[in-house]
Amino acid sequence: MRKIGTFPIVVIVLVAVYSLTKWGIPAFSREVTTLPFPLPVPGTLMLFYMTLTVIALFLMVTFSEEGMQDFLRPIKKLLRGGYGQIARGVVLLAIPLIGAWQMYDLTVPRAQVPASLRIQHPSSNFPVSFEALENPFEHRSDADVDAFIEQAKSGEIVFIEQVQEDIEYWVDEWDPDHVLEFFANDKIDAFLAQLEADEVDHEVARAALHQVDLFEGRALYAMNCRACHGDSVAGDGPMADGFKLRPIDFTDNGTVETIVVGYTFWRVTNGGPGLPTEATPWDSAMPEWKLSLTEEQRWKIILAEYNLAQKTPRIPEGHE
Ligand code: HEC
Repeated sequence: MRKIGTFPIVVIVLVAVYSLTKWGIPAFSREVTTLPFPLPVPGTLMLFYMTLTVIALFLMVTFSEEGMQDFLRPIKKLLRGGYGQIARGVVLLAIPLIGAWQMYDLTVPRAQVPASLRIQHPSSNFPVSFEALENPFEHRSDADVDAFIEQAKSGEIVFIEQVQEDIEYWVDEWDPDHVLEFFANDKIDAFLAQLEADEVDHEVARAALHQVDLFEGRALYAMNCRACHGDSVAGDGPMADGFKLRPIDFTDNGTVETIVVGYTFWRVTNGGPGLPTEATPWDSAMPEWKLSLTEEQRWKIILAEYNLAQKTPRIPEGHE
């Protein structure tokens, strides 16, 4: 059997590595992700793989004198006309032509379609049923307030599990008269004073419960949204600079203040994947929160979000 020369091996490896990264990995990605489109390998990564391949091949070829000779043999043969005059002519003409075409392609001016403006609040697929939704934690029902008063009397308040452990730890550490002292603000203090005197006013209790809801919402916001939307809710979290379409600044007058709260809930629920085509040209990195947060958690976060931004949602038509 004739041995394959070094030159054909180099060509075969280069073509194989290129094909694998260009078409093989994207095809494989469809199998793995089951998405309806392939995930391409980024250009810089392609350059990386190809450079590494070239370096490896260079080492292989230059490792020994024989290897080098073997690699150069077909090239020398071509240049000396060993494969015929025509073959030599074609190759010598093709190399500058390919170079020239690449250069032309790089420098040719292109007319570009002007970028269309992005619609921040598309409504074509916004379900009407969401429009009149109210945040259930904005005005707690009387039954909720009664239950809260009962819990406060017994000192056994049920918090969301995400903060429960920290509050228990704080109670163990400080041994307060009442667990609600954790929140230490005037609304809570007023409620605790009434609790002590056993003269609880419903509205004072409601205001205290609101403080608990806000605290839980802020904690959930810090865990889920802060990385992008930031501590200051101004869309300047540590990850914000990584996105072409920046996370929204909730303190801006043109964002969450101009939409009804049901719309905000819909946006948080369905995220970027739930947006219709008019919300392109850029894809939104906003996650689809219905996959990882319960309705209660989403509503509490929204409560905290508006509170932190010092904004109020738009009032739905026909509501006063
Ligand atoms: C991975 C980054 C990221 C995280 C985490 C994230 N967001 Fe976003 N969010 C974005 C981006 C980017 C936009 C802007 C693009 C868009 O409108 O979809 C956005 C937009 C929004 C909007 C739309 C505001 C408007 O006026 O249209 C709301 C509401 C929102 N986010 C709430 C949240 C909440 C609540 C959380 C946490 C549960 C959260 N986001 C977490 C990236 C993120």
